[in-house]
Amino acid sequence: MISIEPGHIEKDFKIYKNIKYIRFILPIFGLIIVLGAIILGLSIITLVKVNNKVDRIIDKHHESTSNAKARQQSLNSILSESVRIEDAMSHLNELQRIAKVSNGTRAINTSGFNATLDYITNYLTANTNYKVTKSFFFLRDFALANNPVLISSVNGITKNYTYSTQISVADFYHAVYSTSINTNEFTQLTAIPNVGCSDDDWQKANPSPAGRVALVKRGTCPFREKIALATKYNVKAVLLYNDGTSPDRVSPIEITLAQENSMPTLFLSFTVGQALLNSTQNTRSNTRMKLLIEAKNIPDYPVGNICADTPS
Ligand SMILES: *[C@@H]1O[C@H](CO)[C@@H](O)[C@H](O)[C@H]1NC(C)=O
Ligand SMILES: *[C@@H]1O[C@H](CO)[C@@H](O)[C@H](O)[C@H]1NC(C)=O
Ligand SMILES: *[C@@H]1O[C@H](CO)[C@@H](O)[C@H](O)[C@H]1NC(C)=O
Ligand SMILES: *[C@@H]1O[C@H](CO)[C@@H](O)[C@H](O)[C@H]1NC(C)=O
Ligand SMILES: *[C@@H]1O[C@H](CO)[C@@H](O)[C@H](O)[C@H]1NC(C)=O
Repeated sequence: MISIEPGHIEKDFKIYKNIKYIRFILPIFGLIIVLGAIILGLSIITLVKVNNKVDRIIDKHHESTSNAKARQQSLNSILSESVRIEDAMSHLNELQRIAKVSNGTRAINTSGFNATLDYITNYLTANTNYKVTKSFFFLRDFALANNPVLISSVNGITKNYTYSTQISVADFYHAVYSTSINTNEFTQLTAIPNVGCSDDDWQKANPSPAGRVALVKRGTCPFREKIALATKYNVKAVLLYNDGTSPDRVSPIEITLAQENSMPTLFLSFTVGQALLNSTQNTRSNTRMKLLIEAKNIPDYPVGNICADTPS
């Protein structure tokens, strides 16, 4: 029916693998930023000390030696000698002290994280001539308030689909950063031709997708591009479905949309998607959907960055 570029299968599969572990990514991301900040801080502190020593040595050696190799050797030994375990330990002890007074954590979105940023910022400001700035940006969090509900009406017969976090038995799954929706009444389903990656696909959909629920097959372009087009064509909600091109592309998958997404979105199994597609092909079946998605209203959380610029 529709051909999929092999490259895309690979890409989608990767996305799926990543997404399987999404619930571990936030804490890991937090740790990475914290470790990054520590390493940045310690590196800058070390580099400043090393720089000072190196400057002195270079001046001293400038006249006396033009032997590049000898200079490199002395630089190397200066670098390694200037990394003092006591210096590193004193910073690590301070970070441990911060964790102790912050409920044992310095993870993102905790007071320990902020205290870590303050420690590094204050140390660099007091001990270097770097121009140190600290800035915060905000990230969106996502969680469901309740399991989503998906019901179809085909030829007047309703069917309630199975949502499960055990994805192999699920008919459908939520998309991370989906927005909430409660259609209350059945809303007509329209299938988007091909894989919904071009304006042409959305314009050719019959009936027009505006104000309706759109059924879109996986493949060819990133999910975010399909959703961007759905938003452009004023779709009420999107039902993506797997393409069944291999045994591992039958179940629904957990996908992550853009943080700024505003489209209610679910992901269906290949079996359910194909059956609904089939139903829409007979207009007399009057295929309609009811959706209930309740995303928790969680405030964005702040993440901090430190920049240390040389004065010149
Ligand atoms: C530590 O956790 C308790 C309860 O979980 C909380 O009330 C308190 O504010 C936390 N303290 C800090 C420094 O984060
Ligand atoms: C960030 O902290 C606030 C306040 O403690 C909390 O309500 C929220 O769930 C946290 N967000 C994340 C992503 O940890
Ligand atoms: C950390 O600092 C930011 C920026 O000032 C603030 O918005 C946030 O609430 C602080 N987080 C905690 C847990 O104190
Ligand atoms: C559909 O199933 C869900 C549980 O999966 C249930 O909460 C809901 O009430 C059902 N709706 C109908 C109309 O049967
Ligand atoms: C497709 O729909 C037709 C009726 O329009 C039905 O007879 C057929 O069984 C359906 N096939 C599938 C695979 O659902």
